Amino acid sequence: MKFFIDTANLEEIREAYDLGVLDGVTTNPSLMAKEGISGEEKVRAHYKAICDIVDDKVSAEVIATDYAGMIREGKELAKIDDKIVVKIPMIKDGIKAIKYFHSEGIRTNCTLVFSAGQAILAAKAGASYLSPFIGRLDDISFDGLELIGQIAHIYQNYDFETEILAASVRHTMHLIKCAELGADVVTCPLKVITGLLKHPLTDSGLAQFLADHAKAAGK
Ligand code: E4P
Repeated sequence: MKFFIDTANLEEIREAYDLGVLDGVTTNPSLMAKEGISGEEKVRAHYKAICDIVDDKVSAEVIATDYAGMIREGKELAKIDDKIVVKIPMIKDGIKAIKYFHSEGIRTNCTLVFSAGQAILAAKAGASYLSPFIGRLDDISFDGLELIGQIAHIYQNYDFETEILAASVRHTMHLIKCAELGADVVTCPLKVITGLLKHPLTDSGLAQFLADHAKAAGK
């Protein structure tokens, strides 16, 4: 299972990378805006800065929603660095754009996916990654994790090469359940990754070991 961090914050990306378990980064226009990044030059420079931190797979989202615009923007984004994966929304022109980029050997991440039907279309078009947003489904009382299981089953039936990139992951249980269900990748905030470290028995066990060691050493 791969771990991507879902942020445009360079410090958080560095911290996750330093942990040694990071496989990639996802961003979206809201995350870029949160870091105060806007304007073509600044956006390009920021994506480059992210690519300079990690080994591969940096999702950079197009803003255009028409076919020609997505192709133009996606090509520009892909030129920034070989690590860029062009993120395309799940809309009609987006499917056409994914098909085009697939034929050009440019990797894509199909975003804003909320149904199995959308997942089938994206895989048929040749998306490299598919981003079902599980937290946002939970927010409206649909079971986001159930969708991950459904897509994993369908993709297995047909040996689709598209990787399931579970997105909108809000907590550690989301991540663990995604692992059980067979998601290829999970993208989440840093606190979800570091949250996996925590267990009170680890803390109390370590404190006891250190206390016993100190006692035996006569300290
Ligand atoms: C994925 O690529 C999206 O950036 C992200 O996971 C959305 O998460 P949110 O629903 O917490 O905003």
